[in-house]
Amino acid sequence: MESFAALIRTASHEQHMDAETSTFMTDLLGGRLGVTGYARYTEQLWFVYEALESGAGRLAVDPVAGPFIRPELLRLPALERDLTHLRGTGWRATLSALPATRAYADRVRACAERWPGGYVAHHYTRYLGDLSGGQIIRDRAEKTWGFAKRGDGVRFYVFEGVANPAAFKRSYRELLDSIRVDDLEKQRVIAECKRAFALNTAVFRALSEEFPLSA
Ligand code: HEM
Repeated sequence: MESFAALIRTASHEQHMDAETSTFMTDLLGGRLGVTGYARYTEQLWFVYEALESGAGRLAVDPVAGPFIRPELLRLPALERDLTHLRGTGWRATLSALPATRAYADRVRACAERWPGGYVAHHYTRYLGDLSGGQIIRDRAEKTWGFAKRGDGVRFYVFEGVANPAAFKRSYRELLDSIRVDDLEKQRVIAECKRAFALNTAVFRALSEEFPLSA
């Protein structure tokens, strides 16, 4: 049988392409989106990572999710620095989640509280994506809006504690392969990963409705 890391990757491949080629991502990568749209996107990520990371401490001792919890992945402090740069020091006062973001964050929180396997699905979908395609987004954001390289505005994409992302991803896939759940639960985790992608795509759709381009 294929390894679990390979299974989850293959199972989400099609949805990964949907996310990558979504109108919002295409506009962002094409350098056509204004910095306001980028700030709005960064703000949505704050809600998702708040849900993902506020339960991380408790999950660190969980036999299924625990091995995945690594301090060098935590993104909330970086997101908060980016938001301060993008929106000013009063950014918290105007913070608002799109309905699609609310739904995504609620689902992550529910998994964090009740279902460690589901939490792993969300963890994988976000952090492995951020370590991969996130680097392409960072490069584009630096060029489009003139942020300092790896500086304020794009710190979310910079994993200071991960010296070698390729090696990190390899060891992450090994963790996936040794996840302590049975085959049925693995299928459920894969289904949750697909749901995680769908929740991301829904946020992109809402963002592209809020920031339609005339170009
Ligand atoms: C324009 C946007 C995106 C680009 C250009 C992109 C690009 C990439 C690339 C090149 C890889 C392969 C890295 C490797 O093999 O090591 C990758 C992997 C991945 N991406 Fe994306 N991505 C994008 C959006 C997303 C989104 C929105 C998500 C989900 C929230 C996501 C989740 C993932 C995951 C989970 C992996 C790891 C697959 C695996 O090896 O198991 N990506 N991405």
